[in-house]
Amino acid sequence: MNPVSQRETPIQTVRGMHDILPGKSADVIRIETKAREVFSRFGYQEIRTPVLESTDLFERAIGQTTDIVEKEMFTLKDRGERSLCLRPEGTAGVVRSLIENGLLNQSAAVKLFYVGPMFRAERPQKGRYREFIQIGSEYFGNASPAADAETIHLVLEILRSAGIESVETRLNSIGCGECRPKYLEQLLQFLKGKSPELCRDCQNRMERNPLRALDCKEDSAKLSDAPKPQDHLCENCRSHFETLKKLLRAAGIQFEIVSNLVRGLDYYTRTVFEIYPLEKTGSQDALAAGGRYDKLVEELGGEPTPAVGFALGVERVLNQIAEEKEEASAVSKGIFVAAMGEPAMEKSFQLMSQLRSRGFTAEGTLNQQSLKSQMRLADKLAMRFCLIIGENELKENFATLRDLKNQSQEKVPFDQIETALKQRLEI
Ligand code: HAM
Repeated sequence: MNPVSQRETPIQTVRGMHDILPGKSADVIRIETKAREVFSRFGYQEIRTPVLESTDLFERAIGQTTDIVEKEMFTLKDRGERSLCLRPEGTAGVVRSLIENGLLNQSAAVKLFYVGPMFRAERPQKGRYREFIQIGSEYFGNASPAADAETIHLVLEILRSAGIESVETRLNSIGCGECRPKYLEQLLQFLKGKSPELCRDCQNRMERNPLRALDCKEDSAKLSDAPKPQDHLCENCRSHFETLKKLLRAAGIQFEIVSNLVRGLDYYTRTVFEIYPLEKTGSQDALAAGGRYDKLVEELGGEPTPAVGFALGVERVLNQIAEEKEEASAVSKGIFVAAMGEPAMEKSFQLMSQLRSRGFTAEGTLNQQSLKSQMRLADKLAMRFCLIIGENELKENFATLRDLKNQSQEKVPFDQIETALKQRLEI
């Protein structure tokens, strides 16, 4: 019997889920580590909340009429028939935790960050996954536009630390409980006039949540002359927005006012922002997004507490880095040690161990393969340099240092290898 036919069918990842394989995990860790450094400079502390929460939490926080709650939640029943959800975002859980643990009563301002997986049953495509990692922050207890400006600066610093500098920051204000109801009335009248032309989602949600129409990809052209939130702000919201713009300009942060930017979650008040890659190379998805949500803590049962935050998608940041070909991963700084023949093994192993102990990324099989196969492996591992040690090298106390990028080659005495590599790797 053919042994292959006895094999069971392999089990695959669930649609839209993906493994983070060894080559990629180092990049994810690099971004998370850099973000943690930046958060620490800005005075933020980490919070970890459960992946599973009551469905009720997200329905109340994100809003019943949002795409996330209507179509994208992974919902399940526990044994007691309670409805639970894999968290689609981080803000709601953080707010729940602060209220539950009484953390908001302890000091005036609380600055928290989180890193972890989120789940949304979206149609899978590049940059849009059903499980993705968010890095985010929430700043509670500061109603000043300075907290909004700080949050935007924080995201940009994290993106910069990950190697992404060319971004476009889109900004808008969607008003507050005072000015928004009047604006929404006007918007609704406008939408009713256009109703037959609008998509089914917009028609269905128009009465319950007219603001969502401004965010609709399908109807955007038809709604270009819709009334804009920014033109209907009350005095306090206007002044908040003006000060925010001034603070951003003072810090040299460029931004675009995008008047139909409203976001896909209902908890926002006043400031909303999204950050996109500047190069129109790849997808048009936001790398990061956030805004102010001054009513959410109260709506979830806490004391009235102003707040502002953001989240970025780690996979989208990684895709962008790959697109910009700014591969800055540790592997590309790696050194492959190739031994030619049995006598070179000892010296090669000693060198490889020494380099690793000194903080270099070094690799080598040292299993007597031909130089050609060793070089092929170095290439596959995306190594930057190769140190070749053979009979001649041993006799004359040097290694052949090959630059795998430009294919140049030179002799480097054994005792100068570290210095030579440091110079060339600029470390
Ligand atoms: P969001 O805009 O829904 O906001 O998501 C923030 C970021 O998460 C997006 O800009 C994107 O980079 C990433 N993201 C979202 N969905 C996906 C997906 N399906 N696949 C890959 N990446 C994705 C929030 O989640 C808010 N909680 C942000 C916030 C925090 N606002 C205030 N505080």
